[in-house]
Amino acid sequence: MSQVIEYSDKVMDHFTNPRNVGEIEGASGVGTVGNAKCGDIMRIYLDIDENETIRDCKFKTFGCGAAVATSSMATEMIKGKSVEDALKLTNKAVQEALGGLPPVKIHCSLLAEEAVHAALWDYAEKKGITIEGLKPPVNDIDETEEFYKTTGE
Ligand code: FES
Repeated sequence: MSQVIEYSDKVMDHFTNPRNVGEIEGASGVGTVGNAKCGDIMRIYLDIDENETIRDCKFKTFGCGAAVATSSMATEMIKGKSVEDALKLTNKAVQEALGGLPPVKIHCSLLAEEAVHAALWDYAEKKGITIEGLKPPVNDIDETEEFYKTTGE
């Protein structure tokens, strides 16, 4: 018997009307992450100005509705923010902003957090700088999923 997944109105809104879909040509940083289990892939583009502020942010997600909604919300949450603040964006904050996610969809929000980190990593590499607290990106979030599940961080 298949299980019906219930989404919040906010998730449905960001899924049916996603914000910031697209690419940024010559982006300051691009991050791509996936989940081998479900096969979903998320890519985030950042345009960062000389004051280390995220001037623009776009995404392309090949994935489920929750992955689209979390990418949309994550890009909204980091647009106009500093690199430092973008680094602090957690999958938990994205979930809360979306009014919650069903447990089987928590990993979708992890993709968003990791894609932002991967894009910041790419930006730092291109600029030859170090962003304090930023860890090397994981390409397959399965590697971190168990950790997040048990700690909820
Ligand atoms: Fe894997 Fe949503 S089911 S990202």
